[in-house]
Amino acid sequence: MVAVAIVGAQWGDEGKGKVVDLYAGSADAVVRYAGGPNAGHTIVVGEDRVVLKHVPSGALRAGTICVLAQGMVIDPDALVAEMAALSARGVDLSGRIFVSDRAHLIMPYHVLVDGLREAAAGEARIGTTGRGIGPCYEDKIGRRGLRAGDLRDTTRATQLVARALACWEPTIRRLGGEPPPAAPVVQKLAELGPRLIPLLRSDASALVDGIIRAGKRVLLEGAQGTLLDIDHGTYPFVTSSNTTAGGACTGSGVPPTKISGVVGVSKAYATRVGGGPFPTELFDEEGQMIRDRGHEYGSTTGRPRRCGWFDAPVVRYANRLNGLSGIALTKLDVLTGLPRLKVCVAYEIGGVRRDEVPLSLPEFEEAKPLYEQVEGWKEDISSAKEFGELPKAAQKYVRLLEEVGGVEVSLVSVGPDRNETIVRKNPFRS
Ligand code: GDP
Ligand code: IMO
Ligand code: MG
Repeated sequence: MVAVAIVGAQWGDEGKGKVVDLYAGSADAVVRYAGGPNAGHTIVVGEDRVVLKHVPSGALRAGTICVLAQGMVIDPDALVAEMAALSARGVDLSGRIFVSDRAHLIMPYHVLVDGLREAAAGEARIGTTGRGIGPCYEDKIGRRGLRAGDLRDTTRATQLVARALACWEPTIRRLGGEPPPAAPVVQKLAELGPRLIPLLRSDASALVDGIIRAGKRVLLEGAQGTLLDIDHGTYPFVTSSNTTAGGACTGSGVPPTKISGVVGVSKAYATRVGGGPFPTELFDEEGQMIRDRGHEYGSTTGRPRRCGWFDAPVVRYANRLNGLSGIALTKLDVLTGLPRLKVCVAYEIGGVRRDEVPLSLPEFEEAKPLYEQVEGWKEDISSAKEFGELPKAAQKYVRLLEEVGGVEVSLVSVGPDRNETIVRKNPFRS
C-alpha cells in the first residue's frame, strides 16, 4: 500500500542498517536504491552481527523480498561473495532476492582508477572507500557502462568491456597504472553469470510497483547520507549518487506520489569518514571518547571515523531536502557518562551568524559552530523500551534535538541490537 524511504541525514553510517532491519519486521520488501559496496550496513540480532554491502537490510527477515534496484552500482564478484557468506550463516535468500537488469556493474578497472586517483591526489584526495564507485557512475553517465542485464550476453559484454577499457586506458596510464587485459575481465563475468542471471529482473521497478499495488509495504533503503549527495552534499567531498529522497524515486522507479513517508536516520552526535568540511569535529579527548564508545571505525574500510557534536543545521538541511516525516535517532547510549553535551545550533562565518548550511565549500570549511550546552546523564539507558524510561536529562537532550533540528524524533536507538530500540511512531502509520 505504501513505500517508506529511509535516508541518512548526516554523512553516512548513521545506523540505517539497524533501522531498516527493524522496520523490515513489518514490511514485505526492502529496495536498495543507490550506491554499492561503499555502503556497510550493520545489523545486530543477539550474537549475530552482519555487515551488508549490497544486499538490502531486509535480509535477516525471512520471507522479506530484497531488491537491488537500478540506481545501484554492483560489484558482481563482491555480491556473489556476500550472498555466499550470508548463506553460510543460514540466511536463505533464495527466491526472494532480485537484481535490476539496469543496475550498473563495477568492473576491476573502476576499482583500479579509484585507487590510482586517490593516491595521485595526495592531500586533495576525497577519501573514497576505494570500491570503484565514482568511475562506475562516470561510465553510467557517459553512457558506456555495463549493466547487470549484460551478463546474459557475453558477446555484448565483451564489446562493452573493450569500449570502456579503451576509454579508461589513457587515464590509467597517466596515473602510472597498467590497464588490465580485457579477456580475464570478460572471463570473470562469464563465471559469475550463472550465479547472478537467475536473480535478474528486466524491470525491477515493475516488480516493486506490483508489490505496492498488492497492498503490501515497501521500504526504500538509502545508502550514504544527505551531505554525501552528489548534488546537495559537500561537493567534491561526496559520493557519486543521489543519496537523498529524490534518489529513492529515480533509483527504484517508485514515483514520489507512492512514497508516504521519509525517515531520516541521524546519530545523537555526528561522524564523517573521508575528507571534507565537518564544523563540529572534535580533535580532543572527548572526540576520542565518542570514537571508542561508539566503535566509530568504518564498517567497510575499518578507517577511524571523525567524530563531533550533533550539528542541527545539517539535520535541518536534511529535513528540507528529504521532507522528513521523522528522525530515527541512533547511538544515544554512546553519550552516556559524558558530563555535558554540546549541540551546534548555528555557525559563525566571517564574524556573521548563519543558521543554514553554507552551500559554498570554502564557507562551510570556515564555519565555526555556535553551541548550546546541556547536562549529560550517567544511567545505563540500553534497556529502555519507552521514552519515559530514559533519564530526564536524556529526554531533555532528545527534545532539544527535535527543537533545533526542526523534526520529531520517531525512534530512539539505545544500542546496536534490534531490540535496543524505543519506537515512538510506526513509519507505516502516518
Ligand atoms: P549505516 O551505514 O547507516 O547502516 O551504519 P553502520 O552500520 O555503518 O554504522 C553504524 C554502527 O553503529 C554499527 O556498528 C551499528 O551496529 C551501530 N549502532 C547502530 N545503532 C546503534 C545504537 O543505538 N547504539 C550503539 N551503541 N551502536 C549502534
Ligand atoms: P553507508 O551506506 C559513510 C564516503 C567516503 C568518501 C565519500 C566518497 O554505510 O552510510 P565513494 O567510495 O562513495 O566514492 O566515497 O563518501 N562514503 C561513506 N561514508 N558511509 C557510507 O555508506 C559511505 N559511502 C561513501 O568515505 O568520503
Ligand atoms: Mg555504513
